[in-house]
Amino acid sequence: MTHLRGRSILSLETFSRSEILDLLKLGAELKAAKRGGFEVARLTGKTIALIFEKDSTRTRSGFEVAAYDQGAHVTYMGPSGSHIGHKESVKDTARVLGRMFDAIEFRGFAQKDAETLAQYSGVPVYNGLTDNAHPTQVLADFMTMPEFCNKPLPEIQFAFLGDGGNNMALSLAMGAAKLGMKMRIGAPDAFWPAPDVIARIDEVAAGSGAQISFEADPQKAVAGADFLYTDVWLSMGEDEHLWADRIRALMPYQINMGLMEATGNPATKFMHCLPAFHNTETSVGNDIEKRFGISAMEVTDEVFESERSIVFDQAENRMHSIKAILVATLG
Ligand code: CP
Ligand code: NVA
Repeated sequence: MTHLRGRSILSLETFSRSEILDLLKLGAELKAAKRGGFEVARLTGKTIALIFEKDSTRTRSGFEVAAYDQGAHVTYMGPSGSHIGHKESVKDTARVLGRMFDAIEFRGFAQKDAETLAQYSGVPVYNGLTDNAHPTQVLADFMTMPEFCNKPLPEIQFAFLGDGGNNMALSLAMGAAKLGMKMRIGAPDAFWPAPDVIARIDEVAAGSGAQISFEADPQKAVAGADFLYTDVWLSMGEDEHLWADRIRALMPYQINMGLMEATGNPATKFMHCLPAFHNTETSVGNDIEKRFGISAMEVTDEVFESERSIVFDQAENRMHSIKAILVATLG
């Protein structure tokens, strides 16, 4: 695969349907190769900078393991310790890193910062999550769906429940629009994306035959879905004071067994990008229980731990799909 060499992945919007499908196919091939013990290193001697302005378990591990498996080296720069943004502009940092590294992964706040890095570094930049987009997660999710549903992607129907305007909802919608999928976003209308964002999703969907809709009634949103997907109700970087409003507004969209059954589809699987608040075994989950008397937020422990849950398959596929990105753009 040479046609993606040198490309940045800032969002899925700039990728064609066939380019996205090529990345998914390569991810599946690399997964089979690793499992079969016949993986070939195609990135020997490459160096990749990993910039994280926010915390991460999967994205960081996915990039590091994918790079090591392929013979590349990484340098991790966490939320503190580098000058980026505090003492050196993103533009200047881009020009420095571009002189040393073959590629840059960026997890941060502003989508503009990922764009600036790509513009001035001269090397591929991969968006490892911004406030607006999480494209590498969506590639892993669309790689995972066909592993659990015997339908081609354009025939798959899924619903995203919860904060309908967050980075996951927007990136899933853009990916689904590109690939011609059927997606409903179940959220109160105050949590739908801005009209211009919806218009852009509609425009992309019109070109692919995708059906992307917004639905305030959670029961209607999930009807017939092959997959129910949710994400945290408060994303990294958002003000903790918003918890009370979010819990009040989004509790009807919690994925519990009742909502799983409301799909009318006994084969519906549960998906989540993770981390998830499904119990009180975290400091945040524990604090929320003390303050609001609830032991789970966006998904109940019962659903999360059930046979329906494929969240750890998604998590594993982060690594294989990130590896596909690295191989396709740098190999
Ligand atoms: N899903 C995801 O991006 O996880 P991390 O925040 O752990 O990277
Ligand atoms: N919406 C979440 C996704 C985490 C992978 C966040 O931005 O915190």
